[in-house]
Amino acid sequence: MSEAGKRTTIAGLLGSQERNVDVTVKGWVRTKRGNKNVAFIALNDGTTINNIQVVVDPSAFPEELLKDITTGASLRVEGLLVDSQGSGQPVEVQAKEIEIYGKADPESYPLQKKGHSLEFLREIAHLRPRTNTFGAVLRVRHAMAYAIHKYFNDRGFYYMHTPLITGSDAEGAGAMFEVTTLDMDNLPKTADGKVDHSQDFFGKATNLTVSGQLEAEIGAMALSKVYTFGPTFRAENSNTPRHLAEFWMIEPEMAFFDLVDDMDLAEDFLKYLIKYALDNCMSDLEFLNKMYDNELIDRLKFVVENDFVRLDYTEGIEILKQSGKKFEFPVEWGLDLQSEHERYLVEQHFKKPVILINYPKEIKAFYMKLNDDGKTVRAMDVLFPKIGEIIGGSEREADYDKLVGRMHEIGIKPEDMWWYLELRKFGTAPHSGFGLGFERLVLFVTGMANIRDVIPFPRTPKNAEF
Ligand code: 4AD
Ligand code: MG
Repeated sequence: MSEAGKRTTIAGLLGSQERNVDVTVKGWVRTKRGNKNVAFIALNDGTTINNIQVVVDPSAFPEELLKDITTGASLRVEGLLVDSQGSGQPVEVQAKEIEIYGKADPESYPLQKKGHSLEFLREIAHLRPRTNTFGAVLRVRHAMAYAIHKYFNDRGFYYMHTPLITGSDAEGAGAMFEVTTLDMDNLPKTADGKVDHSQDFFGKATNLTVSGQLEAEIGAMALSKVYTFGPTFRAENSNTPRHLAEFWMIEPEMAFFDLVDDMDLAEDFLKYLIKYALDNCMSDLEFLNKMYDNELIDRLKFVVENDFVRLDYTEGIEILKQSGKKFEFPVEWGLDLQSEHERYLVEQHFKKPVILINYPKEIKAFYMKLNDDGKTVRAMDVLFPKIGEIIGGSEREADYDKLVGRMHEIGIKPEDMWWYLELRKFGTAPHSGFGLGFERLVLFVTGMANIRDVIPFPRTPKNAEF
């Protein structure tokens, strides 16, 4: 709570039982109000959504100093911690000494007033963490990252670091950012006119990873249970409130898990994380509930307390077809579900999270285990209210010949993935895993509507300013 005896955090002060003691508090001015006889400064240091009220006797300080205490300025205040006279806060600080670290010119400081639009705040990503909204989102985001590591550590999973630069395309989605040091203005070419990546930094074509799964499988086939948690990159041009070009993904991978084990883990994991937020982030959630989404806290509790529905893709298609609802995108067995379909199932039909399984092989990645029908794969997508797909996962194809067969069907050269195939050649075992989109989780938990508002520096098409 106290840093080198020099500072008490505002979270610490507001929770303190001590009174009539001298404290030092440091932070940024949110507001200053008052009159000739008394001034009130609301100070925030990011340790909590709440401000500490600093009470100032103007006659005790130089007028020059008081004039420079404006919204956004950073201060050190020493004073007496006392019961607050006003309502709204348990304690306040009666200032004895004030030092201004840095002024913030009221003419040009952009966060003068409350109520800026989220769109405007995206343009000032260097200042938006100082708003109540982003303070709350960033604290919740941190709490979720911590809870993810805690969940896995407590259950015997090992955190595995997988490369960001890779030579393989895990999802076969074809939307990758290339990594090269070749001279773009003078590209070396092979005899058949293609770019000669043998002269490139790694001696081959490489890209930013779309997923750490394939490498996580290497870990699972040695350590039993591993997970990754890192940035992933997708160059898909989807300008939606749920897609980023750079997002963080959590990918557990478990040997000896079948699809049911995988679903059980995904459901338990999500409920644990949401409960963790309810238990540890309540003041931030209450703020977000009040400002952005009045059903947020009820929705979070509902998800924790109720079983997810588990349903075959084929049944899901039937329900959608019989719904009588006009969707923008067609519903047909064999087509991928769009977010409008996913949300219909979750929000209107079942009114619960849904785990959809056994998708047609054509719309899923090559590594998923083929079902006996030869048409569907042991895939699972976890669908959430307001979000649609929050998790995608599967049991993996553990049979060498079947996997090679799938690669041929899709047009992946088996020799390019020789190491992945060797996992099926030497001591293969049933195994499963899934990927949770971290920002989609934070979206759900904070009740924010746009994924750009739950990551400090969003990367989206035509946007990488900060
Ligand atoms: O369904 P996806 O593509 O699955 C995989 O990448 C597998 N390798 C995961 C695995 O089995 N280990 O992505 C997983 C999740 C999605 O459900 C979604 O939550 C999130 O990652 N996601 C995105 N989040 C933000 N922006 C994007 N462009 C995203 N694409 C996927
Ligand atoms: Mg998916």
